[in-house]
Formats: sequence, C-alpha cells, structure tokens
Amino acid sequence: MRIQILSLLLGMGLAGFALAEGDVQAGQTKAAACGACHGADGNSLVPAFPKLAGQNINYLVKQMKDIMSGARSVPAMAGQLDGKSDQDLMDIAAYFAGQKGSVGETKKELVTLGEMLYRAGNKDIGVAACTACHSPTGSGNSAAGYPALSGQHADYVAMQLKAFRDGQRTNDGDAKIMSGVTYRLNNAEIEALASYIQGLH
Ligand code: HEC
Ligand code: HEC
Repeated sequence: MRIQILSLLLGMGLAGFALAEGDVQAGQTKAAACGACHGADGNSLVPAFPKLAGQNINYLVKQMKDIMSGARSVPAMAGQLDGKSDQDLMDIAAYFAGQKGSVGETKKELVTLGEMLYRAGNKDIGVAACTACHSPTGSGNSAAGYPALSGQHADYVAMQLKAFRDGQRTNDGDAKIMSGVTYRLNNAEIEALASYIQGLH
C-alpha cells in the first residue's frame, strides 16, 4: 500500500507542472488558432462558441477526438484539428484546463425553474439531477470526464441540450447519459437550465 502511494506521488512529481501529461506552454502555442473562436484564454466572447477555459482535460481530449473522428459533428472546426497527435491534444487540453473560466449571469425570471431542475431534476418526468454528475457548483468531475458547466454560455448550453435530446449529438457514450437526461425536457426547461448554468459558479 505504502509503496503504491509512493510510486503514485513520484509519478505525479515527474509530470510536474505539465498537468497529467500535457505541456501547458506547448499547448498555448498549439492553441493559437483556436483563440479566434474560443478566445485566446479559452473564454470565448461569442455565445454560440463554447468556453474552454477551466474545462477538465479528460473531457477536452475526448471531445477533440470525437470531433476529429466525426463522432461529434462540428462543421465550424473543419480542418482545425488536422494532423494533431495525441500529445498535441494533451498539451492543448492542459493549456485550456489551466485557464480561469469567466462566469455570466442568470436571467432573474429563470433562476427558480433552472435551479430546481439543476439541483433536484424532475422525478415526475424522469429527469436526473445535474448536480450528481456536474457537481453543485458546475465544476464537473474531472476524473470521470464529466464536463464543467459553470459560466458556460447559455446559447451554447441550450444548443447542446437540444442536440442531445433531438439526436444530433450522440457522443455521450454507450449509456447515452445525456440523451436520457434531456429526452423529456421541453424548450422552456432547457432555456431555464441554460440561463442558470451561465451564472453558476
Ligand atoms: C471557426 C471557429 C472555431 C475554431 C477556429 C475552433 N473551434 Fe472549437 N468549436 C467551435 C464551435 C462552433 C464549437 C461547438 C459546436 C457545437 O455546437 O457543437 C466548438 C467546439 C469545441 C470543443 C468542444 C467543447 C465542449 O464544451 O464540448 C472543443 C474541445 C474545441 N472546440 C476545441 C478547439 C480547438 C482545440 C481548436 C483549435 C485547434 C478549435 N476548437 C478551433 C468553433 C471553433
Ligand atoms: C449521470 C451523469 C450525468 C447527469 C445526471 C447529467 N449529465 Fe450532463 N453530461 C454528462 C456527460 C458524461 C457528458 C459528456 C458527454 C460526452 O462525452 O460528450 C455531459 C455533457 C453535458 C453537456 C455538454 C457540455 C459541453 O460543454 O458541450 C451539458 C450542457 C450538460 N451535460 C448538461 C446537463 C444538465 C443540464 C443536466 C441535468 C438536467 C445533466 N447534464 C445531467 C453526464 C451527466
């Protein structure tokens, strides 16, 4: 047991500042072109373009791989990831994960419904509480690769929830977690959740 912990600590020490296996500085250089849409520090200013700042490495790497393979269709990113190696993806992910994500605001009239759905789900219609996987503050679960949501643009979040619900985004694993979560959400509930998440931190 002790030896295992020791070797774990040593392993982490070797990785040093490189956050897991990614090199933050190399990642910044490799992510230069991404800034046009996602913001140089990953805080995109365009509501339809996701913020990447503060997102966890596992989720970022999975999404980049899914976008490269076509498992997730992102036409706006055609060519952006061409020729990127696994190391490139790790470096880019380490860079964005290390940036501080900005937080927006929740529309006052949507707080009550958004918060209720986010924290408690809706048993009557079979919607799971978002907190279970995305955490009460929206910080996600980095080990499991559950994405951070806090401060994400409401427009982007609403688009993703509708895409999961309507079968346009299907890269949520064999368990189809997010398809199941969104299956019974109507557009008003999605707008409330999205607005709530934009101000969540
Ligand atoms: C021309 C604009 C544009 C550029 C340049 C661009 N992206 Fe994107 N990216 C998008 C859009 C738009 C989406 C979301 C599409 C959707 O609605 O699913 C996205 C989604 C993503 C996602 C998924 C985020 C999430 O929360 O699920 C990642 C990761 C990503 N981009 C990484 C990158 C990286 C790395 C680069 C640079 C190598 C890059 N992008 C360059 C427009 C762009
Ligand atoms: C059982 C775990 C679980 C629950 C409960 C859950 N999610 Fe998710 N969610 C995930 C996983 C896993 C993904 C990433 C799927 C993938 O790999 O593309 C995800 C992705 C998302 C995304 C896309 C993030 C991005 O950057 O593109 C949004 C938005 C989201 N969830 C919102 C919600 C909301 C709102 C709820 C509650 C109504 C919820 N989730 C409940 C596990 C969960």
